[in-house]
Amino acid sequence: MSTPTKAEIGRPLDRIDGRSKVTGSARYSAEVTPQGTAHAIIIGSEIPAGSVTAVDDADALAAEGVLAVLSHVNMPRIATEPHLIPSLAGTTAHGQSFFPMQDAKVHYAGQPVAVVVADTLERAQFAARLLRISYEREPATTTVAEGRDHAYEAERIFGGMIPGRAERGDITAGLADAEVRVDRTYHLAANHHNPIEMSATTAVWEDSRLTLYDATQGPTATRLTVAELLGIPPSNVRVISDYVGGSFGSKAMIWHHPALAAFAAQHVRAPVKLVLIREQMFDGCGHREEQEQRVVLGARRDGTLTGMLHHKLSPTSHFDDWAEPSLNVASQMYACPNYEGVYRLFKANTMTPTFMRGPGEASGVFAVETAMDELAYELGMDPMQLRLHNHADVDPESGRPWSSKGLKECYARGAELFGWSDRDPRPGVRREGNWLIGTGMATAIYPVYLPMNPQRARARIYADGHAVIESGAADFGTGVGTVMAQVAADGLGVSTDLVAVHYGDTELPNTVAAVGSAGAGAVSAAVHTAATALRDQLIAQAVADARSPLHGADPAGVEVRDGRMMLRDRPDTGETYAELLQRNMMFDAETLGSWNPPGPDTGHGMATFGAQFAEVAVDPELGVVRTRRMVGVFAPGRVLNLKTAHSQLMGGMLWGLSQALLEATHMEPQLGRWANPSLGEYLLPVHADIPDVRVETIEVEDRVVNPLGVKGVGEIGMVGVSAAIANAVFHATGKRFHELPITIERVM
Ligand code: MOS
Repeated sequence: MSTPTKAEIGRPLDRIDGRSKVTGSARYSAEVTPQGTAHAIIIGSEIPAGSVTAVDDADALAAEGVLAVLSHVNMPRIATEPHLIPSLAGTTAHGQSFFPMQDAKVHYAGQPVAVVVADTLERAQFAARLLRISYEREPATTTVAEGRDHAYEAERIFGGMIPGRAERGDITAGLADAEVRVDRTYHLAANHHNPIEMSATTAVWEDSRLTLYDATQGPTATRLTVAELLGIPPSNVRVISDYVGGSFGSKAMIWHHPALAAFAAQHVRAPVKLVLIREQMFDGCGHREEQEQRVVLGARRDGTLTGMLHHKLSPTSHFDDWAEPSLNVASQMYACPNYEGVYRLFKANTMTPTFMRGPGEASGVFAVETAMDELAYELGMDPMQLRLHNHADVDPESGRPWSSKGLKECYARGAELFGWSDRDPRPGVRREGNWLIGTGMATAIYPVYLPMNPQRARARIYADGHAVIESGAADFGTGVGTVMAQVAADGLGVSTDLVAVHYGDTELPNTVAAVGSAGAGAVSAAVHTAATALRDQLIAQAVADARSPLHGADPAGVEVRDGRMMLRDRPDTGETYAELLQRNMMFDAETLGSWNPPGPDTGHGMATFGAQFAEVAVDPELGVVRTRRMVGVFAPGRVLNLKTAHSQLMGGMLWGLSQALLEATHMEPQLGRWANPSLGEYLLPVHADIPDVRVETIEVEDRVVNPLGVKGVGEIGMVGVSAAIANAVFHATGKRFHELPITIERVM
């Protein structure tokens, strides 16, 4: 109908939740303390495999303030088979087809074997020390080194969403056709998310209704999962996630603690708060699995790729076949006609791995983009030229056109900002004192995931001109709440200052969990639909109202600015929403908007692209690698807020740096436990590690993915960075590293 003003969308608005977060007034799930709240703590298994033989809780129960000890002996049985639970987007709950304390069996270290509940946290902790749990230990497998010989080809991975094998063309012929071949195996350490806020649930029963204050990326997913486990209708479960202090995928799946808190609260007949401690964040919320990837690239002398083989080997839990999809999107990067990708798994005594920022993309693109750099050197070709030479003009997987791309523009702009053309390709020749200097680049790619079900939001405008936009989505630190205000303001034609935003509550209209960089696209589509529908409804009311200056006008000729509806060609003729509502004795007007995603078959290949550049300085004697400069240029479709989008992309790039040089969770195979489950021993970058980072976005129009053409910025910033850095380390030193992270002891 009318043309909305576009000024609000894209504006680098400050985060609407910023002030409350930095001043400490934001209330997180662990800070909700209703009258009479009891405190629960989880006791994790000390052994990685075997069974619990006895639970001696006499002393613990006798301790002051202790309300209950739950173990497999007295724990209520769950109401359904966990693998039947619908969760994210209505599919089976990926990677959690197991619920603890239903029997004595132990599958992994840290698996919950008991829950202690007391009137204070300190009393629960004290009682936990009095609890004596006996185990019978069996042999365990936890590492790639141990599991390699027991590997099998996976039928499906990633919660059943992706087949274990993908092929196109003829890989044997393609590699036989090659004049040059690179065949490399890469090893990547396990990683953990480490959000600052620990996972936490406060469970409150009122009669048969349960309210969970839960740190989650998907309030609806928590609602559905907990309802199924407890055998109560989802309508009796409300999940509130006002603030979530980071997640990066660790709060995407619904792990055991929300349901354990609900069971405990039911058992002790009081609200129960359950907060994981940092150590439990390493065995209670999934992780990025340790993995080995083999990449074989075949090419002609002119650089044309003839074949690409990409195999992955990684551990999964005893109850799920999970691998992060390291192969899939990496196979869509280049126009290579012959391809084979295979996932091999082995059963290990760890919990099921999970989504972690750039799940699969960050690891698979590292391997392929390092191999591409190695191939460029074999061919004596500039690494960016090799990539341009194999540019995928259409989606090589489906042969279909891309919904939008912009990769060549990203390469060109990135090269310009970085100064790529001045590069002397010879490795190990640039020196500054003790430092060897090198530069590297890589392609970034991330899939565009479309939600499978309708995305809803409600828009309301009050008779004083203020507006409210509501959507159940959680903002786990991405800024989605802020862009909700901007998109609503744009759709309604009012100033963003007048729009209040409500989110993070299952009582609000449902949108999909914030996963797969799809949150902003889904929520903005819902909000845009609701806001424009409300605008059109009020315009329709005005033109039908005999007392309105717009009476009888063509609605298509009406536009709204600053809350005032007016004729486009005669702006002096019009009235405000407030005037219309007040005259008609209406306190407010509201509309529920529902956006129906296009469905799985859009006729297009869909992905987000970018280009990463890095400069490093390496001290070969000390083994120190310093990243000195990074440039990332991305084409994420419509940018809803330049500031939050760039922050997301920059944060992703720093994650990539961290993956390249620092992050590793070490498994202690004798104990079958993570050896460094703390922020003291799990290395993360500090400010001194962070170089000059330049982020730019290139606007590409995408009419396929969603109404505003939003492709997402949450994860692509990370993808390709570790390869760009590893390639820069090679360029600096002439030494290739096939293991992440590239630590001091490896470089020395
Ligand atoms: Mo994100 S790693 O898809 O939760």
